[in-house]
Amino acid sequence: MAARILDGTTLARARRERLAAEVAEFTRRHGVAPCLAAILVGDNPASRSYVESKARACARAGIRSETFHLAADTPATDVLALVEELNARSDVHGILPQLPMPPQIDPDVVFGRLRPDKDVDGLTPANMGHLALGHPRLAPCTPLGILALIDAAGVEISGSEAVIVGRSNIVGKPTALLLLLRHATVTLCHSRTADLAAHTRRADILVAAIGRARTIRREMVKPGAVVIDVGISRIGGAIVGDVDFEAVREVAGAITPMPGGTGPMTIAMLLENTLAAARWQLEGAA
Ligand code: GUN
Repeated sequence: MAARILDGTTLARARRERLAAEVAEFTRRHGVAPCLAAILVGDNPASRSYVESKARACARAGIRSETFHLAADTPATDVLALVEELNARSDVHGILPQLPMPPQIDPDVVFGRLRPDKDVDGLTPANMGHLALGHPRLAPCTPLGILALIDAAGVEISGSEAVIVGRSNIVGKPTALLLLLRHATVTLCHSRTADLAAHTRRADILVAAIGRARTIRREMVKPGAVVIDVGISRIGGAIVGDVDFEAVREVAGAITPMPGGTGPMTIAMLLENTLAAARWQLEGAA
């Protein structure tokens, strides 16, 4: 039987509607709307389009947003100075340095300077540390969206075999930590994993965050598994994920489409994190 489609667009819309009511209530209570500042360095077209869709989503949810667009050759010191300025502004609650950054800027240094209570990406050492210790404050958005999609599928995470392919700081590692917190048995695979298929075939929950088109093929998936696709590649005119969707949907129990799966959820979780950051600053600990 063909897999159930995990529709991220519909789930994200429902969460954004619920969030808009909470944002309105926050704004009434504090006399100030939550505000997200995005830092975009350079002209990567995909990054520009992400930042524009984030700004539109903020506006629809009642969140104020500002975008700081800097030239591709901006020195790292100028980016760090902007981070310090936004750290200090009491009307800015969330700061999002859009990745990737040009080569002269080390993203670890930028995130190292961010105030943890404004870190809506959950990528500062402090927030990653809280997550690793099992007490997340602000956690990365795509992993939060992945967990929300699995929960919406009604899948029991506790006791399941979860296999994640890809060990990035932004997706693979924090997704592993969040699933571990929910009592999954977690395997984190990567480019040097020997016999990848031997791992993926055991997965009740399979998360593909590799960045290589259609890497997960039908024979790599356990029948009935929940398959979450985080990859996004352009092949010809088409957008495809890390999962061979048409083949894998024949064996999986549930699967995210690409596009329309994890992408909209990432934005929804960013909005939720922005409200959580504003609450942390105005109401105390997250
Ligand atoms: N670039 C692609 N995805 C993301 C994300 O979730 N956060 C940031 N800051 N940059 C990104």
